[in-house]
Amino acid sequence: MTKTMGYRDWRWQALWWHHFFLLWTTIDGQTRYSIPEELKQGSVVGNLAKDLGLGLSDIFDRKLRVASEAGKQYFSVDAGKGELVVNDRIDREALCGQSASCVLPLQVVTENPLQLHRIEVEIKDINDNAPVFLTEEKSIKIAESTATGIRFPLETAQDLDVGSNSVKSYTLSKNDCFSISIKELPGNRKVPELVLEKSLDREKQSVHQFLLTALDGGNPVKTGTTQIIITVLDINDNVPTFKRPLYNVTVPENTNVGSILVRVEASDADEGVNGEIQYAFADHTPLSILSIFRLDSGTGEISLVGQLDYESSAMHEIDLTAKDKGVPEMEGHCRVQFAVIDINDNTPEVVLTSNPNPIREDDAPSGTVVALISARDLDSGDNGKVTLQLPKGSPFTLKPSFSNNYALVTSGPLDRESFSEYNIEITVIDSGSPPLSSKKTIQFSITDVNDNPPVFTQPSYSVYLKENGVPGSILYSVSASDLDSGENAKISYSILDSKVQDVSVSSYVYINSDNGSIYSMHSFDYEKLKVFQIQVQAKDQGSPSLSSNATVHVFILDQNDNAPAVIYPSSAAMGSLSHQRMPRSAKAGHLVTKVTAVDADSGHNAWISYKVSEATDASLFTVNLYTGEVRTKRAVSEQDDSSQRLLIEIKDDGEPVQSATVTVSILLEDGLHEPILDLRQKAVEPSKKTGRITLYLILSLASISVLSLVTFLILAVKCIRNSRSSASCCTRQSDCDDYKNPNRNLQLQLNTDGPIKYVEVLGGDMLSQSQSFRSCMSPCQSTVISL
Ligand SMILES: *[C@@H]1O[C@H](CO)[C@@H](O)[C@H](O)[C@H]1NC(C)=O
Ligand SMILES: *[C@@H]1O[C@H](CO)[C@@H](O)[C@H](O)[C@H]1NC(C)=O
Ligand SMILES: *[C@@H]1O[C@H](CO)[C@@H](O)[C@H](O)[C@H]1NC(C)=O
Repeated sequence: MTKTMGYRDWRWQALWWHHFFLLWTTIDGQTRYSIPEELKQGSVVGNLAKDLGLGLSDIFDRKLRVASEAGKQYFSVDAGKGELVVNDRIDREALCGQSASCVLPLQVVTENPLQLHRIEVEIKDINDNAPVFLTEEKSIKIAESTATGIRFPLETAQDLDVGSNSVKSYTLSKNDCFSISIKELPGNRKVPELVLEKSLDREKQSVHQFLLTALDGGNPVKTGTTQIIITVLDINDNVPTFKRPLYNVTVPENTNVGSILVRVEASDADEGVNGEIQYAFADHTPLSILSIFRLDSGTGEISLVGQLDYESSAMHEIDLTAKDKGVPEMEGHCRVQFAVIDINDNTPEVVLTSNPNPIREDDAPSGTVVALISARDLDSGDNGKVTLQLPKGSPFTLKPSFSNNYALVTSGPLDRESFSEYNIEITVIDSGSPPLSSKKTIQFSITDVNDNPPVFTQPSYSVYLKENGVPGSILYSVSASDLDSGENAKISYSILDSKVQDVSVSSYVYINSDNGSIYSMHSFDYEKLKVFQIQVQAKDQGSPSLSSNATVHVFILDQNDNAPAVIYPSSAAMGSLSHQRMPRSAKAGHLVTKVTAVDADSGHNAWISYKVSEATDASLFTVNLYTGEVRTKRAVSEQDDSSQRLLIEIKDDGEPVQSATVTVSILLEDGLHEPILDLRQKAVEPSKKTGRITLYLILSLASISVLSLVTFLILAVKCIRNSRSSASCCTRQSDCDDYKNPNRNLQLQLNTDGPIKYVEVLGGDMLSQSQSFRSCMSPCQSTVISL
């Protein structure tokens, strides 16, 4: 306890005096005590009685006591020792606040006499309060990239204590970016300031937290803290970045419209709008790209809106940007390469480089160029590799020249008559998978060359013509055809000159040169001309022209135009009388005579039969129907007339029948031998002759039989052979020229219509014209056997 006199708080005093001075007249000197605040109750401040000069008895007697209300609260006087003791807790901060000195004035009163003593108690500060921040945390927003050195004022801490016990310093908890600095303001105010030491990067650390601690100067030191939260504000300092600088995408060219081809992706480290990315085509992107590709600005998906075509562009390069929405806008770039994969989508084509010209049929196989063609396919690689094909067996080949150019050339014989026009279908096929192909038909014609002669319908014709026909009638019509065309096929007919019986054939017939009709210019007589040939020629108008020949055999058919002529008994005139004699003694069957007649006609027309048409005595004589022998039917009797007459009718077998008659008169003579002898001789003479003839005949028949047999055998063998190749069994030996031989003086005519009906032996001199044997084996066949 210290008693400090003379120390005053003038302000406090003034207030005090204002209240009490008027009441109390006596004022002694001053007594002052100094105590720390917050003393325990009962703590002794000082010995008040002693300091006032009072004895122990005075304390009770004069009633020493603390008078003021305020004084009474905190202090009291100990009645025993007269000491001033602490009555209640004294808080300096409550009494005096932030005032630097805190003095409590006390009035102490003594009675008998009443005296007022003024004492002062100085309350000294102790460090009982810690610095305090008004807020527990402090938020500060700082944009990233703010320059270092910038200061941010912080809240000052409050400390109720004063003097050295008040706030003395501040510290920051450990951090990289900030430091603390104290700014001294006038009036000894200390303001803490946050100093940015290192630039902030929101992308590294977006929030910084640390503690600000305020320390006072007391002992021990008391502290207060507050939390500082620094939020780093983003600024658009990051460029959107694509994940890859180059996207390499392969796309088949047949990709459907609408397909998503690729998705590009960019990222931006910034946040908010600074990190919101929008994709776009670069500014210089050409329209051709924009018409094919679409870019979704939000997702970065590139999709197809047009058709890809490898052939027009095999590679698309697109530059893209990614922009954020910050201010300023930041922009990143990338490139997308679309490699288009070729698909076999183009059909190969055959193109005619030159139009085909007509080619001559005789040009082949000289490699004549028909047409120049080229093949093309817009695809590439295998898809564009083409091969050409010709139909199998066509007489053409493709001769390759440079790069897919070909010449269509002939490779085999051409025949306009087989194919007058060619439609060559060329197939072009590529090597894609699946392969595509197309066809092109090349049409051209073959021009005719006169390479075909006219051809007659038959190599030879046989015409059967009745004799005595009307001159000028059509005898026959030949016809020929020509496979060529135009003038090369225009045929004119002519008759080649030859001789018929020393007369030019053209005096017998003529031909219509246009249609081949052959006209007779004469009527023919079978008896004079039985057969002749005409050589006809058909000639086309080509250059050079071609021709062919055919033979027309004209056979004159016999008509029954000749009556039988009686040779024996000879007489100058037909139907005249002929005298024969015979003895009366003749028996039945006696040969009286033989009537012989000939017929210039042939065949049936010359088949002569004899018949008795009138007789003196029909019972006596008979004539052999075939031989003309007149014989007695019975023995002659005495009654028979010596003169007998027979009218013998001689008929041929023609149609109409021609006939002749001869009258034979027979004299029956008694015992008359001469005439009989004569007659016998006469009869023998012919009979000798007849015998010889019969011998010839037998020989002839025998040889004919042998010949016929041989011929039949040959024919049979031929028939069997020919039957393999042709149905007809017909030989054309009749066409041989041998039957026309004028040096033969004896000819046998054998007519066999089925069985042999007759054999005619004719003298070579009887008819100037040559005769022939014709043996018809079948209706279509005629064989001439010449002897
Ligand atoms: C892109 O891809 C294609 C085919 O896959 C390849 O040939 C080409 O070299 C690639 N380009 C780049 C730049 O990678
Ligand atoms: C040929 O022409 C003549 C005259 O025009 C005609 O009388 C005849 O019938 C023709 N012949 C043929 C086979 O057409
Ligand atoms: C046709 O006959 C004539 C005359 O005989 C002859 O010159 C010509 O060569 C013959 N033509 C043919 C194709 O045989």
